[in-house]
Amino acid sequence: MNLAAEIQRLKAERNAVILVHNYQLPEVQDIADFLGDSLELSRKATEITAGVIVFCGVHFMAETAAILNPGKTVLLPDARAGCPMADMITGDQLREFKAQHPGAKVVCYVNSTAEVKAESDCCCTSGNAVKIVQHYADHEVLFVPDQHLGSLVEERLGRKLILWPGYCPTHARIHPREILELKAARPRALVLAHPECPPPVRALADQVLSTGQMWAFVRENPAQEYIIATEEGMLHRLRKDNPGKTFHRVSPFAVCPNMKRINLDKVLFVLRNLAPAIKVEEPIASGARRAIEQMLAWS
Ligand code: 13P
Ligand code: SF4
Repeated sequence: MNLAAEIQRLKAERNAVILVHNYQLPEVQDIADFLGDSLELSRKATEITAGVIVFCGVHFMAETAAILNPGKTVLLPDARAGCPMADMITGDQLREFKAQHPGAKVVCYVNSTAEVKAESDCCCTSGNAVKIVQHYADHEVLFVPDQHLGSLVEERLGRKLILWPGYCPTHARIHPREILELKAARPRALVLAHPECPPPVRALADQVLSTGQMWAFVRENPAQEYIIATEEGMLHRLRKDNPGKTFHRVSPFAVCPNMKRINLDKVLFVLRNLAPAIKVEEPIASGARRAIEQMLAWS
């Protein structure tokens, strides 16, 4: 059976749309109706009229789509595809953190659970974090859960935030030494790094960009060669859309095992069974929706 063709047939029968994150396996990216970063996918989720959304990404992304589309069936092809960073702060931990800093505003990276979003004033993604925090110029800001994205916001705005010590284990595996070696061998290559990279890696980058921003940057920039400091799935999209340019991955270990849990067999399975569907209960869904919609309004 041609899996991709069968998925397309069933997708039409089910009136479904397939949203895919830039870190997914190449064959999953290739069946996308829409491929993007977290912000682009959140925006897209608000525009969908089809009754079924198949979300090829990790749990918090599908949860965000479900929160923004309460009447639709949102399917995550592997229910175990979580994000370890999102699990580094719980709702109880955030409530305690807030109690220690009365009056502070809470900005939470979308890589977080619905319960944490519901406890926050506004969400952000790697593409809009600076812009969102700027709205709280007169407040102390608690930034959760990613300390590295938080420290990038601090650098860009020249102010201190109160950071939660979470991080992405995949980006933590990228080492500055690997970038220095690649740069030495390819001096003309530009280094693009994701904001989740630790600061010593970011310091070696020509640009620090979300995955969607990397794609847009490469399309417009005349440079022919790039070193890509993020999860390796990004390389597929960049190579496919820029056949004349050369892309180097920084490390064989920059792989997100949760993103890679999704494959074409599992996409077909959820389309056939319309399960497992992601559901977010009230009042958490409404609280999280408020924080996500505030982000979308400001970005
Ligand atoms: P982007 O929003 O840049 O795609 O990042 C999402 C993510 O999970 C990065 O690890
Ligand atoms: Fe989470 Fe990191 Fe995987 Fe992104 S790459 S989903 S932050 S573990």
